[in-house]
Amino acid sequence: MPKSAWLSEELHAYIVAHGTEPDAVQQSLIEETAKLGGISMMQIAPEQGTFMTLLVRALGAKRVLEVGTFTGYSALCIARALPDDGELLCCDVSDEWTSIGKPYWEKAGVAHKIDLKIAPAVETLAALPEDESWDMAFIDADKPNYPNYFEAILPRLKPNGVILVDNVLWSGNVAKPDADDDNTKAIRAFNKKVADDPRVEAAIIPLGDGITLLRKK
Ligand SMILES: C[S@@+](CC[C@H](N)C(=O)[O-])C[C@H]1O[C@@H](n2cnc3c(N)ncnc32)[C@H](O)[C@@H]1O
Repeated sequence: MPKSAWLSEELHAYIVAHGTEPDAVQQSLIEETAKLGGISMMQIAPEQGTFMTLLVRALGAKRVLEVGTFTGYSALCIARALPDDGELLCCDVSDEWTSIGKPYWEKAGVAHKIDLKIAPAVETLAALPEDESWDMAFIDADKPNYPNYFEAILPRLKPNGVILVDNVLWSGNVAKPDADDDNTKAIRAFNKKVADDPRVEAAIIPLGDGITLLRKK
């Protein structure tokens, strides 16, 4: 099911068909995750994964942080684009879900680049030195904590480093005046916070459920 609620099914299919397709390992992880049922919707859309792989390569990123790994699809998309000595630090609280992804990281030959920490991400991030040594980050975990993840990552990111943030359109609900559930409110507040923040440039890309691209000045 397309995550971009504002696109027709035909246009969504067209967009997917005209971007680079997931490879065989990625496709098998998509299928394995689908067996979990409705919760599999947490996985990023394949076209977002394609975009992230391309962006990591284009930026020449070497050290990347991920907040919210689930069954490891976004991690696979990032790690495959890193150089052989690159590093992806994945933060998640679920051993069960992340364990599903590990064999696929192995099959893709990227497991040696991935360091998975099972703990609340605010704790994992706070324990990292504030040394502006990360090139990029991807935020895709619990929505009310987005501002905390952003504030923890920004001082650890190199100038010109990029943060990607998923689900920033929340199925289009951010722009619906009558949508007032906690996640919608949290995402609206986060979107306003980063748009007003002079430390970053922000652009929302309506791909998947919406990805914000932030550049540290
Ligand atoms: C939307 S899913 C991530 C999807 C993943 N990026 C992918 O492409 O498959 C959100 C993940 O955030 C994790 N999560 C929720 N709260 C968390 C927290 N406080 N710290 C770290 N991870 C958390 C969940 O366990 C879940 O795996």
